[in-house]
Amino acid sequence: MPFSHKHHVGQLGIDCRYCHNGVETSSSAGLPATEICMTCHSQLFTNADMLAPVRASLVGGKPIEWQRVNGVPDFVFFNHAIHVNKGVACETCHGEVDQMPLMRRAHTLSMEWCLGCHRNPEPNLRPPQDVFLMHWQPSADIDQIRRQLIGVLDIHPETMTDCYVCHR
Ligand code: HEC
Ligand code: HEC
Ligand code: HEC
Ligand code: HEC
Ligand code: HEC
Repeated sequence: MPFSHKHHVGQLGIDCRYCHNGVETSSSAGLPATEICMTCHSQLFTNADMLAPVRASLVGGKPIEWQRVNGVPDFVFFNHAIHVNKGVACETCHGEVDQMPLMRRAHTLSMEWCLGCHRNPEPNLRPPQDVFLMHWQPSADIDQIRRQLIGVLDIHPETMTDCYVCHR
């Protein structure tokens, strides 16, 4: 089933956490249960062909099997909550999803890509309350804020490239 972030995020303005509710507290962001879709679609577009898999999932009690877009190999340790709570935004890793009629990978997710930020995280940070925003514009004093965030959020760039951080 084609699911559009452009429609649901860009136009309707639904917050990421409404559907990806693990993202602040656990290693995975998680995908929404069928019931989340049905909070709206039990009233909206109820007979649309496009939504047939959602209705079938609800009736059959079988979760929708979404095709995965992003992924790292099993030998790589990744954790959403740590990044989000330390001021790394969804947009920084996943791109402008509010412009995507279909989800696509925004970055390679290769080791070199991870290390590009882990070597020098400071220029990539935002105040943590802003990590869910798309098209975020930094304020004029952002350099100073970022320098403070390194301390306030207890970020340790000197150990972030150690192999065991991502390979445990
Ligand atoms: C109304 C529900 C909904 C909202 C709101 C929503 N998403 Fe999603 N998201 C989904 C569904 C369903 C999928 C699985 C289908 C797909 O890949 O498009 C998904 C998939 C994704 C994926 C790809 C997962 C994979 O397979 O790798 C990313 C990344 C993502 N969402 C990021 C976001 C971000 C960032 C926001 C907020 C700006 C957001 N989403 C808001 C429902 C939602
Ligand atoms: C907050 C309400 C809300 C939630 C939650 C929601 N939708 Fe929608 N959805 C809408 C609205 C409103 C439209 C119609 C958009 C339009 O055409 O203007 C829509 C349209 C659609 C369409 C038609 C194609 C399109 O993008 O226009 C599909 C398919 C769809 N939604 C799937 C889903 C799925 C799957 C979920 C759960 C992951 C979901 N929706 C969750 C409100 C919602
Ligand atoms: C530091 C980079 C980074 C940030 C920040 C980030 N993600 Fe991800 N995301 C990833 C990677 C890497 C994967 C693949 C994880 C895997 O294979 O285990 C992923 C996978 C996902 C998935 C697929 C389901 C899952 O949990 O594996 C969703 C949905 C998602 N991200 C949503 C979000 C949302 C929403 C935000 C912001 C609140 C966000 N991500 C922030 C890198 C990131
Ligand atoms: C845009 C910046 C950015 C990107 C890209 C990024 N990270 Fe991180 N990562 C961070 C920051 C900031 C921290 C917090 C470090 C700290 O607290 O000292 C972190 C922490 C981590 C931690 C937790 C370390 C710990 O135990 O406290 C792991 C594991 C991790 N990252 C893995 C990855 C992997 C794997 C990728 C690539 C798929 C990745 N990161 C991409 C910025 C990034
Ligand atoms: C910030 C996270 C991160 C750190 C730190 C890190 N790696 Fe990786 N590593 C990855 C990711 C993600 C992959 C899988 C994607 C890829 O192959 O590029 C990977 C893949 C690998 C692979 C498999 C390559 C292949 O071709 O299949 C090896 C070997 C490896 N890493 C060794 C190391 C060593 C040695 C260190 C320390 C010097 C290290 N890594 C530090 C994230 C990291």
